[in-house]
Amino acid sequence: MASPGAGRAPPELPERNCGYREVQYWDQRYQGAADSAPYDWFGDFSSFRALLEPELRPEDRILVLGCGNSALSYELFLGGFPDVTSVDYSSVVVAAMQARYAHVPQAALGDHGCAEAGLPQCFF
Ligand SMILES: C[S@@+](CC[C@H](N)C(=O)[O-])C[C@H]1O[C@@H](n2cnc3c(N)ncnc32)[C@H](O)[C@@H]1O
Repeated sequence: MASPGAGRAPPELPERNCGYREVQYWDQRYQGAADSAPYDWFGDFSSFRALLEPELRPEDRILVLGCGNSALSYELFLGGFPDVTSVDYSSVVVAAMQARYAHVPQAALGDHGCAEAGLPQCFF
């Protein structure tokens, strides 16, 4: 698993745990995400593959809520699950993910009607 912004100073933690719910915290934390390696908080796709694959079918519509800077969405896509919608309320990280995955045709904002569905920005 890649570390968040390897070689950089560790991210500043919120003063109190309730700071994690503030979008401003995440926007600040994700500054520079476009230039850093993906970061998976709990593990990447390979960590959960054995649990997920028996439950998923290739035609399933998969929603990744609070996707952050994780590679999970892309790895699901590469792993044969093309209909992934990844949502995060941090416009900073969504912009970074759109840039990172610009080579993937599905990685276009709005393709999945997120605004119409009342979801925050999404990139797959
Ligand atoms: C702990 S990080 C986990 C990121 C990723 N899922 C992972 O496992 O590596 C939580 C993420 O959820 C997002 N988030 C928190 N509250 C949210 C909300 N109400 N709507 C959308 N995204 C939210 C944050 O911006 C952040 O990217």
